[in-house]
Amino acid sequence: MRTEIAQIADRVLDAAQLGSGMTLVDVGSGDGLVAFRAIDRVGPSLRVFLTDVSASLLQHSESVATQRGIRDQRTFLQCSAEALRDIAEASVDVVTTRAVLAYLPDKIAVLREFRRILKPGGRVSIAEPIRRDDAFEASSLKKFVDALPTGSDDQFFRLLHRWRSTQFPDTEESISKNPMTNYSERDLVRYALDTGFTDIHMEFHIDVAPSQVTSWDVLLRTSPLPWAPPLGKLPLEQFTVEERRFFEQVFRPRVESCQLFGAERIAYLSARKPLM
Ligand SMILES: C[S@@+](CC[C@H](N)C(=O)[O-])C[C@H]1O[C@@H](n2cnc3c(N)ncnc32)[C@H](O)[C@@H]1O
Repeated sequence: MRTEIAQIADRVLDAAQLGSGMTLVDVGSGDGLVAFRAIDRVGPSLRVFLTDVSASLLQHSESVATQRGIRDQRTFLQCSAEALRDIAEASVDVVTTRAVLAYLPDKIAVLREFRRILKPGGRVSIAEPIRRDDAFEASSLKKFVDALPTGSDDQFFRLLHRWRSTQFPDTEESISKNPMTNYSERDLVRYALDTGFTDIHMEFHIDVAPSQVTSWDVLLRTSPLPWAPPLGKLPLEQFTVEERRFFEQVFRPRVESCQLFGAERIAYLSARKPLM
């Protein structure tokens, strides 16, 4: 996963078109993945602001920067993406963000804030997961299960749905209320247009590949999503002993014979603040 995430960060930086002497703001910087790679690319002349709501992640990246001798190139700001208050208007060349907008309900407010801090001609480069199709699949499964006649022996799909519903919203209403599932790549383009960006470029990548999880024990302990409990916790702990046994009997061979597929949908958006 680390390799895949690093590739996403590199695409974000390719589209950011960083150059020496520039100022970069990485929003929702996490452990500093994008920011550290940017410094590796450009060198000591790049100034970088790392912003995040998490004090502990900022402290972590600050100590890594100190160990690497690049502390002076960086400014660490604890703030929310919609209010980058300590960054002056029209003061930075590039804003990057990866897997942050997806968590935030008001994406337009965030893009408006990016535009505020960018210099005229400055660039924004974003990569966000698109989870709507996953939620639509969970919703289709719910409709299928709800339509099963009472007492039918399609227990597997009922259990599968109970698991999936811990990962994704599965009704139209809950999908539209969840910031992770209520937008598409096209919406991101529209938000960029509506907030006054120009030269907008969207690349939407869909990669479908066999799941990297091929062990039942690993499946029980992992979660594909930060908010979802692993299968071993929920709902497996809520299944009865019989349900657990039945679910494992049907599902485990599929996992261990590599029959599971995973789809990754990532939207890459880059755009420029107009010169005038
Ligand atoms: C999936 S991580 C991505 C971290 C980093 N961008 C990366 O590429 O590794 C999401 C990050 O967004 C941060 N975050 C969550 N809500 C935020 C907000 N309102 N404003 C800024 N950052 C936020 C989290 O603390 C976390 O570091």
